[in-house]
Amino acid sequence: MYMNKIPFNKPCLTGKEAHYMYQAVYTGKLSGNGDFTKKCQKFFETKYGFKKALLTTSCTDALEMCAILCDVQPGDEVIVPSYTFVSSALAFVRQGARIVFADSMGTNPNIDANKIEALITPKTKVIVPVHYAGVACDMDKIMEVANMHNILVVEDAAQAIDSHYKGRPLGSIGHLAAFSFHETKNIIAGEGGLLAINDERFVRRAEIIWEKGTNRSEFFRGEVNKYGWVDTGSSFLPSEVIAAFLWAQLENLDIIQNKRKAIWKHYYEGLKDLEEKGFIKQPEIPNYATNNAHMFYIVCRSLEERTALIKHLKDNGVLAVFHYLSLHLSDYYTKNNADIPNLPECDRYADCLVRLPMYYELEEASIDNILSLVKNFFYEFTFSR
Ligand SMILES: Cc1ncc(COP(=O)(O)O)c(C=O)c1O
Repeated sequence: MYMNKIPFNKPCLTGKEAHYMYQAVYTGKLSGNGDFTKKCQKFFETKYGFKKALLTTSCTDALEMCAILCDVQPGDEVIVPSYTFVSSALAFVRQGARIVFADSMGTNPNIDANKIEALITPKTKVIVPVHYAGVACDMDKIMEVANMHNILVVEDAAQAIDSHYKGRPLGSIGHLAAFSFHETKNIIAGEGGLLAINDERFVRRAEIIWEKGTNRSEFFRGEVNKYGWVDTGSSFLPSEVIAAFLWAQLENLDIIQNKRKAIWKHYYEGLKDLEEKGFIKQPEIPNYATNNAHMFYIVCRSLEERTALIKHLKDNGVLAVFHYLSLHLSDYYTKNNADIPNLPECDRYADCLVRLPMYYELEEASIDNILSLVKNFFYEFTFSR
């Protein structure tokens, strides 16, 4: 029996993080919205074409800002995939919304865009497509149905940095979008996030909500001669120390992405034969989507098989992990809602999906080790039971 020799995740450091943080500390500007924040925001606006980018302390915070900006009121309905992180729904529940959960596709865990229209009622205010594993949802279909019914779209792009849909950057298509820089993501800041605003109507109010309900940003730009309390809001902006860390990551975005893509490809090529023989399903990237190599997952045939595979890997020093539990079956949702939908695809991913170790420093030899353990499991272990 080995100790856990290959972790599931290891934060990637580029080497400049501490240097820039030191710079932030010793220039004496530590609170938010300083030079590093502005540099990061400009980077996102220029590279991905967002009308406005605002750094936040997490993706959850960015989603909460979206819920406020969409003016979600008690009784409004918000359509969210059930196979997602709690924050995709919770940010809207905090405004009093009723969450209407949607099922995933059979081919990948993203929301099934063809099933959204049937969930729309006169109370529907927002649709929240989540780009699982950084792979795009079918945004043309989602925007078409949303525009037809005058509904806002908030992309949960927590995992989707530097990924595209039909050539358009994810996060630039919906009215609003939220990204995460949590330490498990491709680009990290420990905890951190980004609000991307694509609809001009929201820009001014977003800055106010970001700055505790005040028009302080306008004051700092010299647009008004005093600032005060003008709206609701909170302290959503991170300190310059966090922005400095993030800047060191952004400078190395392409290097990080290329390495992750190589690791992803290595896994994918190595497990093709298991898929061909029907043991597993590998991630399916639709023609309209790119792959930002945020995650490498496989889908097993049953919960029992997945549990045994995770144990087999753990016993051999490799930490592989399952992912979301169906939100429509969660304690919180079932306690507060009478109608529990039947979402079989979501439940299947909750039971059968397993994520393999994925991080910048993962070595080829380690990947080969993981591949042979997985193959070993399916070729030998399953038949000997
Ligand atoms: C799809 C999705 N949305 C939102 C979040 C929340 O991100 P954060 O931890 O930055 O608040 C996560 C976190 O992993 C996520 O996977």
